[in-house]
Amino acid sequence: MIKKIAILTSGGDSPGMNACIRAVVRTAIYNNIDVVGFLKGYDGLVNNNFIDLKRESVSGIIHKGGTILKTARSEKFRTNEGLILAAKSLKNNAIDGLVVIGGDGSFKGAIALSEKSPIAIVGCAGTIDNDLVGTDFTIGYDTAINTVVEAIDKIRDTADSHDRIFVVEVMGRDAGLIAIRTAIACGAEALLVPELKNDADILISKIRNWRSTKSSKIIVVAEGDESGGAYQVAELIKKNNPESDIRVTVLGHVQRGGNPSCMERVNASIVGFNAVKALMQGRANEMVGIIDKKIAFTPFENAVKHRQTINHDLEELLEVLGS
Ligand code: F6P
Repeated sequence: MIKKIAILTSGGDSPGMNACIRAVVRTAIYNNIDVVGFLKGYDGLVNNNFIDLKRESVSGIIHKGGTILKTARSEKFRTNEGLILAAKSLKNNAIDGLVVIGGDGSFKGAIALSEKSPIAIVGCAGTIDNDLVGTDFTIGYDTAINTVVEAIDKIRDTADSHDRIFVVEVMGRDAGLIAIRTAIACGAEALLVPELKNDADILISKIRNWRSTKSSKIIVVAEGDESGGAYQVAELIKKNNPESDIRVTVLGHVQRGGNPSCMERVNASIVGFNAVKALMQGRANEMVGIIDKKIAFTPFENAVKHRQTINHDLEELLEVLGS
């Protein structure tokens, strides 16, 4: 019988985390379960720093980016001492279940914590990168790609007007999932992502064959691409095509902020609601996701072991439509 649960957000913030927190808090209270929120991710657990969360604590947050619980990439939690302190916080506060909203680093943390504490942990995938296995869309991804599309559409105006090449760098340290969708949505002429090898060399030969009727070119580069990023790609192009008029835009953290999209708010609410239900049903050490519109549970080990890879059909689509 679950009487009290805790929630925290960990790793990089992502739009929709607040909608998820709200869903967790309201579902718990609806079921007569008390809720506390640990602040600044796992740091809050290590330092026993938490707040009580009531129904009204989560009023007026569904539309806001960021996380009201704050977040961090906790160094202390990674130590044995930190893990023991975190487990103690859960025990001393009579917590029966913990909801962690975060990405793969956060779920690796959950696995480590579960080795020190018997308390059930359930995860909600929160990262703009969409690189977790076990859900079609992570919380934050939809909003981030819409932010990127809005930015690239604006860049296209200048690219068209000046007949320029723009190399646009989007986030994704290890994954090109933001890059591939936004490249398709913006009609980009090329894509460089960590999942595809030697793509910068292919790009150089491609540039020679670009149709002259196209006045502007947009190249979308994921920050984790082996080329080293947008500035390196621009340098390479300039070296091979000294006459090209080329500019670089690094979109950076603008992609992580802003009001969550409608889809984000709904998905985050569904996932948060089901995380509490999962704890009530006795589930533990699993991530709640949505696959093909149905709720799916994935053990943390599997969610972090394999990365969500880019869909090669999308790669072909981009190639054909951009040819
Ligand atoms: O994991 C989300 C993400 O935004 C990555 O795409 C990016 O590489 C990283 O976080 C940046 O992290 P930080 O804000 O800690 O620099």
